[in-house]
Amino acid sequence: MSEVVRLERHDGIAIVTVDSPPVNALGAAVRRGILECAQTAVADPAVKAIVLACAGRTFIAGADITEFGKPTQPPALAEVVAALENSPKPTVAAIHGTALGGGLEVALGCHFRVAVKDARLGLPEVKLGLLPGAGGTQRLPRAVGPELAVKMIVGGEPVGATEALKQGLIDAIVEGPASGGEAFACRVLAERRPLRRLRDDDSRLMAAKANRSIFTDAVAAVTKRARGLEAPFAAAEAVGLSLDTPFDEALKQERELFLKLMNGDQSKAQRYAFFAEREAARVAGVPEGTKPRKVERVAIIGAGTMGGGIAMSFANAGIPVTLIEMGDESLKRGLGVMRKNFEATAARGGIAADEPARRMGLVTGVVGLEHVKDADLVIEAVFETMAVKKEVFATLDKFARSGAVLASNTSYLNINEIASVTKRPQDVLGMHFFSPANVMKLCEIVRGAKTAPDVLVTAVAVARRIAKVPVVVGVCDGFVGNRMLAARSRQADKLLFEGALPRQVDAVATRFGMPMGPFAMDDLAGLDIGWRSRRDRGVKSEIADALCEAGRFGQKTGKGYYKYEGGSRAPLPDPDVETLIVDACARLGLRRREIGDNEILERLVYPTVNEGARILEEGIAARPGDIDVVWLYGYGWPIYRGGPMYYADQVGLRHIADRLSYYAEATNDPSLEPAPLLKRLAAEGRTFASPAAGRKSTQTLAT
Ligand code: 3HC
Ligand code: NAI
Repeated sequence: MSEVVRLERHDGIAIVTVDSPPVNALGAAVRRGILECAQTAVADPAVKAIVLACAGRTFIAGADITEFGKPTQPPALAEVVAALENSPKPTVAAIHGTALGGGLEVALGCHFRVAVKDARLGLPEVKLGLLPGAGGTQRLPRAVGPELAVKMIVGGEPVGATEALKQGLIDAIVEGPASGGEAFACRVLAERRPLRRLRDDDSRLMAAKANRSIFTDAVAAVTKRARGLEAPFAAAEAVGLSLDTPFDEALKQERELFLKLMNGDQSKAQRYAFFAEREAARVAGVPEGTKPRKVERVAIIGAGTMGGGIAMSFANAGIPVTLIEMGDESLKRGLGVMRKNFEATAARGGIAADEPARRMGLVTGVVGLEHVKDADLVIEAVFETMAVKKEVFATLDKFARSGAVLASNTSYLNINEIASVTKRPQDVLGMHFFSPANVMKLCEIVRGAKTAPDVLVTAVAVARRIAKVPVVVGVCDGFVGNRMLAARSRQADKLLFEGALPRQVDAVATRFGMPMGPFAMDDLAGLDIGWRSRRDRGVKSEIADALCEAGRFGQKTGKGYYKYEGGSRAPLPDPDVETLIVDACARLGLRRREIGDNEILERLVYPTVNEGARILEEGIAARPGDIDVVWLYGYGWPIYRGGPMYYADQVGLRHIADRLSYYAEATNDPSLEPAPLLKRLAAEGRTFASPAAGRKSTQTLAT
């Protein structure tokens, strides 16, 4: 008997239970276990029906991703699915938690599926750069119709049990999975229900077979936003086979498409990102078993752009929030923006119509810092000025309850200095959310010199509870993300002085896969912020300053590096800006030259990587993967390129170091000299991912 799959018999019903924590993934032992138990049950004359269920927190969450890229151990998943489908006795999948990927494919091989109310079912392979490789692209369309199937497979989002029942993906909603599955199997036997083998049931395909545009329209809708990705298109192609290719031949072609994707660069990068994200949640350098503090009530100070968005994220997760402002006017404005945002989401169908009111009901708006007194976690999101932050934290120290975690959302300021005005620096840290905070998933957790381990672990746990992706970073100007972004911005600006135009630079960035280029991003953030900061520091930037002096602050004024017409956010190249750039260069006596796209790409990406190398060496980030996660979730780095450090490893560090040295000399810019870590790894022919990679330590983070 298998260690991870067991077989029990209850009055003629065989219960096959997969018990392979944490998520019952379909590793070789599980596949073998299910197959053997199913064969034993089929051969046993006392068994009349077979129920497949799982122990632990979830039904099978998919193929075992750690096995990908290694030689396949028998039995193949398709064989397991076929055994359940071909069984002469009824097979019932009893689902709780999530039935995902290969897990749902196994369930689709069963003749019937039942699920508990809060179960979710989906084929999310596309998020790993793959498509369902064990019949999912053929059986799901036969279960729910090709339009919904292509939406689920190309979009990768699971559906809940209620929707699954409505669409015919499951046959019933039950109370307990195994007991419900058993009762359902008894009913199937009593009613002598015919076995439904999806492979033989084309009824849901008929409409789209007769009118192919039903399917092609659905494909067009779901692939609209898949720019640069291979898997969504391959997945749509595979689902399309269900309409015109015999089942077994379609399975063969599905397998070929799956293997092609699995061995391709995009899926490798996406699988890397999956594990990097989970690794990032493991905090380096805290004692094993450190427990998070309890967080039931949160206070947020400042109801501006960030405070409001952060409050929405907590309300989305059902956590009550006290939102604190300086005065009634700003409070009213902040709450109004939040309500409008929730209502816009409801109007788009993103949440139910009664959700805006329910979520706003979790937010209590008040004036005065004394209201932090009941909060387990306080997040400060006031103006980005050290004096203001210090005043707020000194006051917090008076009112916050002992043991409360005190976090600042500062983008650049020194957490240690902020902590120093309190009598409890061990409870202080940064929680740096990204704008718009209710949408962006990244949260940089900034560890101060005195931050206690359980405070760090609490912030990581809270971030995950509100569906953010936490990455722990050390203290420095701009932390990981904004510090690397500054290195990129410096080069983007310099390129304008050397001969490039904003549209050319941005086009290179978006072709690479970034959601927007550096100049469109500046326009979105507002050019006046940098202008004010340069004036305070006595720094000049001829082109950016001239834009601001002309009242061009970016999207908010309808003009910046681009122009924006009729309230649209689409950047339009503006001849006035191009003249302004050329004039500024002439004033400075600079000769402009033609700059090729390849140079632009290298000058945007390699300095970003170079700064990442410094960050790693200084211990501001513990692992290269942490830096990649920051860029994937904070800046929209294309997931199929894994993140800047992963990308650099694929390009080759020697090449990158050589090119940086070349640009340092050619553009007379010492900041482009390769960082010592990059130089060393390049000379040794190693990568950032090589074990320890010559870094000082991965166990301690700089603070
Ligand atoms: N294979 C191997 N390990 C997996 C895994 C999988 N499919 N899914 C999750 N894990 C691991 C995680 O790496 C993590 O390990 P760790 O504790 O060592 O870091 C652990 O299980 C728990 O995962 P999470 O931290 O993500 O736990 P959550 O409770 O937050 O989420 C989940 C659970 C929703 C199942 C989530 O893990 C998930 O989305 N998993 C991936 C599901 C997926 O993509 N399935 C398709 C796989 S491809 C496939 O099936 C191909 C087939 O068509 C042939
Ligand atoms: P904002 O100006 O939109 O909001 C700040 C709010 O704080 C205002 O509503 C103000 O009335 C309130 N406030 C000021 N002092 C207060 C006090 N003593 N008590 C209560 N409320 C007070 O600013 P924004 O953009 O929300 O930024 C807030 C913080 O978040 C800053 O530290 C900023 O650097 C950081 N941040 C900003 C991002 C952005 O893109 N806007 C991104 C990430 C972080």
